[in-house]
Amino acid sequence: MPHIEFNKITKDYGAVNVIRDLDLAVEDGHFTVLLGTSGCGKTTLLRMTAGLETITGGELTIGNQRMNEVHPRDRDIAMVFQNYALYPTMSVRENIGFSLEVAKMSKGETAKKVNEAAAVLNLTDFLDRYPRELSGGQRQRVAMGRAMVREASVFLFDEPLSNLDAKLRAHMRLEIRQLHDRLKTTTLYVTHDQIEAMTMADKIVLMKDGKIEQSGSPDDLYDRPATKYVADFIGSPAINFIHGTIEAENGTPVFASVDIRYPLAPDCAAQPGQAVICGLRPSDLEIAVTGDISATVMLAEKTGAEQNLHLKAGEQHLIVVADRAVPAPTGQSVDVRINTDRIHLFDAMTEQRI
Ligand SMILES: Nc1ncnc2c1ncn2[C@@H]1O[C@H](COP(=O)(O)OP(=O)(O)OP(=O)(O)O)[C@@H](O)[C@H]1O
Ligand SMILES: [Mg+2]
Repeated sequence: MPHIEFNKITKDYGAVNVIRDLDLAVEDGHFTVLLGTSGCGKTTLLRMTAGLETITGGELTIGNQRMNEVHPRDRDIAMVFQNYALYPTMSVRENIGFSLEVAKMSKGETAKKVNEAAAVLNLTDFLDRYPRELSGGQRQRVAMGRAMVREASVFLFDEPLSNLDAKLRAHMRLEIRQLHDRLKTTTLYVTHDQIEAMTMADKIVLMKDGKIEQSGSPDDLYDRPATKYVADFIGSPAINFIHGTIEAENGTPVFASVDIRYPLAPDCAAQPGQAVICGLRPSDLEIAVTGDISATVMLAEKTGAEQNLHLKAGEQHLIVVADRAVPAPTGQSVDVRINTDRIHLFDAMTEQRI
């Protein structure tokens, strides 16, 4: 059952339209990630959900109740902001318990809830410290604790990890996801980081210019990107694109570009003569003794267990992810094999998946 529903939601700032006719269902107990580049409207959508921003058009429901006119306080939502917004003059204990104190909860009850949240978040030893005496990750957990004790039915996160270094970010995304698996609170989480979205989400909602480009599970977006934009956004290193046309050879469709030519599956829906963009993920290409593409190694980037091979086939630049044991000195000629089942074809005009 959807917990939060956006029905034809629109947001204008004066004459500027930011979000247009957006439909989205956020499932109960799921971890839903709003993903997109800067300025696509993620924060605006989150703030409308929280009631911190008015809704220009359409209807927002939470638990089947219309929320458009409901005060933020009465929406049963807890929000964690990018800058954490901790009170600098309050200890960790006071920061976490503040909303309960405001709600006139008894001292004993407040202490119990604060201690429980601190235990879950590994903050027990830090309860008497002040925010300035904490690391970024610890501050982040205090902000989460403050949201947790309110026992709200919805958590909203706006880029909570963007101030942390790469290692701490990886650690915190695991912690947040594990916490979610324990609490099962409906969560709407904003990020521009596709790795964060892929690793944490039950459902990814990829936004572009105030609209949803595609929504689905991380695997859906990775395996069946609906548009060239989605294919390009999801995956690292980024997918390779090759512009070409479809030709028919003895009744079999063939992809043909200036530098590359190879047969497609017989049931491929592309039409002969159609201008297409072919997407090949770097990990779906393989260096082989005899392959589909002849190329030259421009550079091998070591990433650890693997390497990113930058190749040139004629004028076409290609990246292949290979095991680090594959010998690939600069200037060497190599053959690249394509995993035909994993080719993504897009119409060159509409950029929609074929
Ligand atoms: N108060 C405002 N008045 C006018 N335009 C605004 C206002 N607030 C936001 N916008 C515009 O709305 C668009 C969406 O902004 P929003 O903050 O939702 O983007 P975002 O996806 O969260 O981006 P980021 O990743 O940079 O945080 C932007 O183009 C922004 O300039
Ligand atoms: Mg934002």
